[in-house]
Amino acid sequence: MSHLRSIADLDRDRALGLLSLADSMAEINARPIPKVPALRGRTVVSLFFEDSTRTRLSFETAAKRLSADTMNFSVSTSSVNKGESLRDTIETITAMGVDAFVVRHKSTGVPWQISRWTDASIVNAGDGWHQHPTQALLDAFTIRRRLSVTGDFAGLHVAIVGDIKHSRVARSDVQLLTLLGAKVTLVAPASLLPPSLEGWGVEVSNSLDAVIDRIDVLYLLRMQMERQEQSLVPSLGEYSVRFGLTESRARRLQSHALVMHPGPMNRGVEIVVDPAELPGSAILDQVTNGVSVRMAVLFDLLGSGTGLHETSGGAL
Ligand code: NCD
Repeated sequence: MSHLRSIADLDRDRALGLLSLADSMAEINARPIPKVPALRGRTVVSLFFEDSTRTRLSFETAAKRLSADTMNFSVSTSSVNKGESLRDTIETITAMGVDAFVVRHKSTGVPWQISRWTDASIVNAGDGWHQHPTQALLDAFTIRRRLSVTGDFAGLHVAIVGDIKHSRVARSDVQLLTLLGAKVTLVAPASLLPPSLEGWGVEVSNSLDAVIDRIDVLYLLRMQMERQEQSLVPSLGEYSVRFGLTESRARRLQSHALVMHPGPMNRGVEIVVDPAELPGSAILDQVTNGVSVRMAVLFDLLGSGTGLHETSGGAL
């Protein structure tokens, strides 16, 4: 694998391989000094054309824990503001000698475009509504660890709730979770579903109350106001009454069920209860696990390819 642009770049074995590599990275992250020389001499550039807190910091932390050099490209202070094209930007950075670009952009397909202009590996950190593969991997990793799943996800029922239409997280998660054998139900009003769900391999419900006591994972999505051209729900209050995680709904969850959210959360909209009060909340685990998963992805793309424990000189 030289790029991770979409979950479609992975087959089941490859996905499971990355999840077990992430287990080894989590062991490193639990050490007093969570740093190994595995990617010494490699350079990873973060190229974020869209806002981000956790994804950008998570990739940067991951690269640093593997001893890669990191470069941070900030659009607001770059020559993009002088009209420099994406292609010239990529070719300029490539000329400095880089091994991987971590890219986030508001347009679908930008990671594929970029890979035509550079030999470096591309990791998609979110392109428009389309894909966010490391989010899906960290979600699957979190489910696996919290619910002690070994092997694939057969028998597991995940409900993804909310603004599916605008969500690259939903698209990536559905692809990965179904690839691993989970059953996925999308829960949303029709206005927040994509026009077609052909090929998604999911069930659909317009009632959270109808599924809440039968699921193993409740995955809440952010209402993505910045991506909605018109008001797709009558009001946020009404949305919250029908689809928000309220206290009474939280009480109906099975005792082992997880509550997940990719962040940033709209408190009082999709999540009304305080997640800190929910024993099943895995929201901060998702953030913690994101570092291990991104270390696994970067190592897989840029490492020597001889395997985690065989790297010459015992790099790990
Ligand atoms: C998501 C994103 O930007 O795609 N956030 C994230 O990466 N953790 C989800 C969102 O913005 O709602």
